[in-house]
Amino acid sequence: MAKRIAVLVSGGGTNLQALIDAQGRGELTGGEIAAVLSSSPDAYALERAKKAGIPGYVLPRGDARAVTAALVERLQALDIHLVVMAGFMTIVTEELFRAYPNAVLNIHPSLIPSFCGVGCYGLHVHEKALAYGVKVSGATVHFVTEECDAGPIVLQKAVEVLPEDTPETLQRRIMEQCEWKLLPRAVSLFCQGRLRVEGRKVTVLENAE
Ligand code: GAR
Repeated sequence: MAKRIAVLVSGGGTNLQALIDAQGRGELTGGEIAAVLSSSPDAYALERAKKAGIPGYVLPRGDARAVTAALVERLQALDIHLVVMAGFMTIVTEELFRAYPNAVLNIHPSLIPSFCGVGCYGLHVHEKALAYGVKVSGATVHFVTEECDAGPIVLQKAVEVLPEDTPETLQRRIMEQCEWKLLPRAVSLFCQGRLRVEGRKVTVLENAE
C-alpha cells in the first residue's frame, strides 16, 4: 500500500510543485501526496495543490503547542505516514516528532551544518552564505528532530557560488539544481523503505528493509 504523504507549506510552494511533478512522472515510488497543509491561507502553494486535485488545509494560528496539537490531530485523521516540510516556516513542538518518529522530512537551502538554525530560513540563508564568502552552497534534506535543522541528514547536493551572485540568483540556482531534485528523491526513498536511520547516520539501502 502506498505511503500517504502530507506536505507542509507556508509560501510559494515550488518544492511542493517538484513533488507534484515527480508524482505525475511516476517517480514518487511507493508514495502518494494525500494532503497539503498550510500555515497561511494566502500561500500560493494551496493553489498548486488545488490545481493538482490534492486536498488543502489551513492550520489555525496560535502558539506553537496549540498549532502542533491541531497539526498532529489533522495528520492522524488523514492517516498520514510521512510528513514533508517544504518551505514550512512555523515552529512546531516535540509532539509532532513523538507522533511521527523518523517520519518528518525537511528541505533546507544550505549545506547543513552551515547557515541553519533558528532565524535562518528562506532568502536569509543565501544572504548569510554570500556575506560569509563561501565558494559552494547547496541544499540538505534531513529528518526533523527537536533541535532546529539538526536531525539526521538524508541527502545533500552542492552548487558553486559565483562572484556575481545575489541572494536571489543563488537561491534560484540552489532550488533548480538541488532542492527540486533532492526532495522528491528523498521522499521516494522513504516511501520505498530504503532509508535506515542509526543515530545521526542515514543509510540509503539498495533494497527495502
Ligand atoms: C525553499 O528554498 C526552502 O528550502 C526554504 O524555503 C524555500 C521555500 O520555497 N526553507 C527553509 O528555509 C526552511 N528553513 P518554496 O515555498 O517555493 O518551496
